[in-house]
Amino acid sequence: MSLEGKVALVTGGSGGLGRVHGLVLAEHGADVALVYNRNEAKAAEVAREIEEKGRKALAVKMDLSSEESIMQGVKRVESELGGVDILVNNAAAGIVRAITITDMSKEDWDADVAVNLTAPFLLIKAVFPGMAERGWGRIINVSSVTGTMGGFGQCSYAATKAGLIGLTKTVALEGARKNITCNAVVLGVFDAGSFYDVAEPFRERIIKRVAMRRSGDPRELSEVIAFLASEEASFVTGEAIEVSGGISLFTF
Ligand SMILES: NC(=O)c1ccc[n+]([C@@H]2O[C@H](COP(=O)([O-])OP(=O)(O)OC[C@H]3O[C@@H](n4cnc5c(N)ncnc54)[C@H](OP(=O)(O)O)[C@@H]3O)[C@@H](O)[C@H]2O)c1
Repeated sequence: MSLEGKVALVTGGSGGLGRVHGLVLAEHGADVALVYNRNEAKAAEVAREIEEKGRKALAVKMDLSSEESIMQGVKRVESELGGVDILVNNAAAGIVRAITITDMSKEDWDADVAVNLTAPFLLIKAVFPGMAERGWGRIINVSSVTGTMGGFGQCSYAATKAGLIGLTKTVALEGARKNITCNAVVLGVFDAGSFYDVAEPFRERIIKRVAMRRSGDPRELSEVIAFLASEEASFVTGEAIEVSGGISLFTF
């Protein structure tokens, strides 16, 4: 499985899981743009790690709640690395907000929708024509079992993660005859990033619901993303693939 010659753009490249997605895509041969908003130092560190593996890397600032910032960032990636062949919509906001619907403000709702759903839409819109022109493209949207199962106190996050699945299936249909695939990965819990924002006793309770009784190693997810980004996954499109160790299975 080789991604040599491909340019990947990973949003949330400064985050816990985005870092590993960037590294694994580079290990398979891709050059990688890592999108950050606040954490420039982390994105720059991941870019250095990728360069040490012999691939090109670029840390790019984009405020995903701003269309202008997204468009400027994509232009920078295209001019410094080349057209985007692989888009991984991984960044998210409001992951552990824990506010029930009656207390949730419209401002917070709008902020989460902007980053989690509108930004993937804008990014897909920005890279889709280039992919169509080159006759090859891979789009991977990072969803969550909170989107398919719901989550107490997580109305905006759950709604955006469910929305990504509808977006995925529609883009898959529109890209199918242009050799652009679009799939979603539906995450359980992983040993990185936002899962560590959850208080310890709750983490334990969540893990008890996982059929495998453990959280995932980030690489167990990144390799699935790399597969979906590869030529080998050429006939897989419109899928929402749960990567969760069986968190949604009936277990007791
Ligand atoms: N970790 C888990 O167990 C788990 C479980 C289910 C789903 N997920 C999903 O996996 C993905 C990655 O999660 P994670 O755990 O790695 O989270 P994380 O470490 O908290 O990272 C979140 C990322 O999103 C970026 N981001 C947030 N707001 C942004 C904005 N306005 N503009 C640009 N970037 C923005 C952050 O960038 P800066 O820090 O640079 O601002 C950061 O890189 C998310 O889609 C999440 O929903 C994770």
